[in-house]
Amino acid sequence: MEKIKFIKRDELKTKPKDSELVFGTQFTDHMFVMDYDRNRGWYDPRIVPYGPIEMSPSSMVFHYGQAIFEGLKAYRNSKGDIVTFRAMDNFKRLNRSAERICMPKVDTNSVWEALNTLLDIERDWVPSSKDTSLYIRPFMIATDPFLGVRPSDTYKFFIILSPVGPYYPEGLDPVKIYVEDTYVRAQKGGTGEAKVAGNYAASLLAAEKAKARGYSQVLWLDAAEHTFVEEVGAMNIFFKIDGKLITAPLDGSILPGITRDSVIKLAKHMGCVVEERDLKIEEVFAANEDGSLEEVFGSGTAAVISPVGVLEWKDKKIEINNGEIGEFTSMMYDTLTGIQYGTREDVFGWVHKV
Ligand code: PLP
Ligand code: COI
Repeated sequence: MEKIKFIKRDELKTKPKDSELVFGTQFTDHMFVMDYDRNRGWYDPRIVPYGPIEMSPSSMVFHYGQAIFEGLKAYRNSKGDIVTFRAMDNFKRLNRSAERICMPKVDTNSVWEALNTLLDIERDWVPSSKDTSLYIRPFMIATDPFLGVRPSDTYKFFIILSPVGPYYPEGLDPVKIYVEDTYVRAQKGGTGEAKVAGNYAASLLAAEKAKARGYSQVLWLDAAEHTFVEEVGAMNIFFKIDGKLITAPLDGSILPGITRDSVIKLAKHMGCVVEERDLKIEEVFAANEDGSLEEVFGSGTAAVISPVGVLEWKDKKIEINNGEIGEFTSMMYDTLTGIQYGTREDVFGWVHKV
């Protein structure tokens, strides 16, 4: 890749207090940008002041939705170092998403270098209080000014940064989840396993309806039969039933979460039996009935490990673990965040210092 240009912002912004941080409302001083053209490949990598960009109203992203993104975090660890968690896995997933909707791949090593350069410039923006971090949002959009339907020939790739607190206002308190059995988010063969912006647009109506009923997010069921559990709006989901940890398999319609993969590897490392298999929502409710449903939690970069306290499906409402965070969920939260914040051994080599 060409050398990254750096245009410094004249006057730096005032940084928010850690105690005021919520999710995704504040942005740092600078962002990374580069352009793509079918003939030239990626060019003009630059770090510039964060701010509005000018685009043609006919840019293809506005019409046919060629847009993909990633989400990862940088943490200030117990030694004061800035670290990232499994960033290369996010860039590999970005490339799989790109392939799915005919966008160009990035060179993962170059983007890794770009991220580390940007984080080094913005290091003072990484908050240090418990449960805070710097959320990293890489994304790519189609920019050809053209109204015909085909893949664009030009694209822009960005990395923006946002200091964040917990994703859910509940923090680590259990969230209430509504099991959606009318709308679907994705089906096998569709774009569900890619991090495509349109998947999120497809999820909004059901999520709004659930919110109006007092729920934080919806749990999606499979599109064909509305029978098997898939994932939640912004996280994968795990059920602890009779001592075993069960989660949906990666078979096309759910996002292969990096936190999901971390939970599976950590759980197996601890000797826990993990099953990636089709799980009927009926089985979850039956397990609650017979007392074998122990815990339910979601996993995601933004959501971290998020206990689920209530599930409602077809007017049946169940409370899990008396609406309290379970022992396993709590232990997984401590283990994962311990690795990220440097208080636990990083046995799998997931953490990299900036
Ligand atoms: N599922 C969906 C739909 C998501 O948006 C996310 C968040 O990225 C996840 C799952 C969790 O993925 P990860 O653990 O890689 O953040
Ligand atoms: C993440 O966890 O990084 C996500 O992308 C979820 C989100 C859509 C906020």
